[in-house]
Parts: sequence; structure tokens; C-alpha cells
Amino acid sequence: MSTEFIKISGCEFLQLPPNPTDHKAILEKFLKAEQSAIVNWDKICKMTLGKDPTTYDIVKDILAEEIEHESWFLELIYGRPSVHMRRKYAGERHHTKKHSRVWDIT
Ligand SMILES: [Fe+2]
Repeated sequence: MSTEFIKISGCEFLQLPPNPTDHKAILEKFLKAEQSAIVNWDKICKMTLGKDPTTYDIVKDILAEEIEHESWFLELIYGRPSVHMRRKYAGERHHTKKHSRVWDIT
């Protein structure tokens, strides 16, 4: 992936922390990645709102998934329960399932 593309995204290129067995540092990097995704999907939502309803419909649901992912990492790092974000099974996609032909594995 080009470094220019990474710069444009405003996201950090994910690499292991200096201590590659520091699980909390790894989770914090994942959290930061989810937060960067939220910022970028929010930008796309704002770009498409009122202009491209089909794209907006998909993007707002992806944004909701990213917010959910952020809550999982917050829960893993800080032990705060995200009761409203509970999944019934690993990989469940509450918000984007309707846009995909890929079936969830139960
Ligand atoms: Fe995510």
C-alpha cells in the first residue's frame, strides 16, 4: 500500500508495537484504527447525504459497524461492558448484513 494513500486516509499504518507481546498496546492500535475508520466513513456519509441515497444507505451502516467495533476494543482494553453492542455470535454484522450476499457463519 502506498504511503501516500495512508497519508490521505489520515490513518496510521498498523504495525506491531515495540514490544510485540504487549497485548494492550496491540489492542490500542486496533482501537485507533477503528476510530480512524469512523472518521473516514463519517466523511463519506456527509459527502453522500442528500446526493446519493444508495451509497449513503450502505455507508451509514458501515459507519454503525465501525462504531460497534470501537466499542468492542474499548471493552477489551478497559473492561467496560458494551451491553447494547452484544453479538449473538462472532462475526455477526447487525448493520451491514442486508447489503451483503455473504452469509454469516453461525
Ligand atoms: Fe472495523
